[in-house]
Amino acid sequence: MTQSPATEAVVGKVSPRHIAIIMDGNGRWAQSRGKARIMGHKQGVEAVRETVRCATRLGVESLTLFAFSSENWRRPEEEVNFLMELFLLVLGREVKKLHKNNIKLNIIGDCSAFSERLKKKIGEAQALTAGNTGLVLNVAANYGGCWDITHAAQQLAEQVARGELQSSDITESLFAQQLSLSEQPPVDLMIRTGGDHRISNFLLWQLAYAELYFTDTLWPDFGEQAFSEAVAVFLSRERRFGYTGAQVRAWMNDSK
Ligand code: IPE
Ligand code: IPE
Ligand code: MG
Repeated sequence: MTQSPATEAVVGKVSPRHIAIIMDGNGRWAQSRGKARIMGHKQGVEAVRETVRCATRLGVESLTLFAFSSENWRRPEEEVNFLMELFLLVLGREVKKLHKNNIKLNIIGDCSAFSERLKKKIGEAQALTAGNTGLVLNVAANYGGCWDITHAAQQLAEQVARGELQSSDITESLFAQQLSLSEQPPVDLMIRTGGDHRISNFLLWQLAYAELYFTDTLWPDFGEQAFSEAVAVFLSRERRFGYTGAQVRAWMNDSK
């Protein structure tokens, strides 16, 4: 029997190949302890480490973490500055460990807005880990789903203007190739911590068929248990990709 494109993802309840996370709730975590919001960001780094460990152990191929959105520049200047410094510090401190663990680091987003120092660190970190074959760790920084789609449209428009492409050549798959993460498996599971039920301009196109999981756990409290719970919920869901439940279950029975 012909296997459907959905079969591989549904049958046998396979582990997610690509997990994306909106790491939210740092500020509230700190404030509920009478601390400044920035202390929550600092503590959040520990949750990042733990999550990278869990994803590696589970054999996830790609992990995409939302670290700073294109809208986060609206925050108080001191908080933005602190986040930029933290990003620099963490890159410098952790990249050797990532490299040792065969992890490939990939920053997605509009890096042109960052300081020269940060751009240089990002370039060095990506170059050092470029040849690694383990987990791909994507960090979304100054990232917005609307920016990603607009940027892709611009790239294609430029190709059309140069006469390298006809507008009628633009298909969904060609468009997708211009977007961030295009070379990686589709996002299977999107987790948002912090209790809000929205996408906040994270991956838009790329979440088309992702399972969405929202938890009240604040990001600094996210760890092995919360990660396992999210994956367990993912595994309990029936993904249908537009097919009927009966079709999907028939394929599942066939493959047993
Ligand atoms: C997420 O935590 C981290 C960033 C957006 C950089 P928040 O800082 O948004 O924390 P809350 O939502 O205010 O608690
Ligand atoms: C989303 O969180 C961005 C990151 C986690 C980096 P926000 O805290 O900025 O989202 P909103 O503003 O509450 O939607
Ligand atoms: Mg928030």
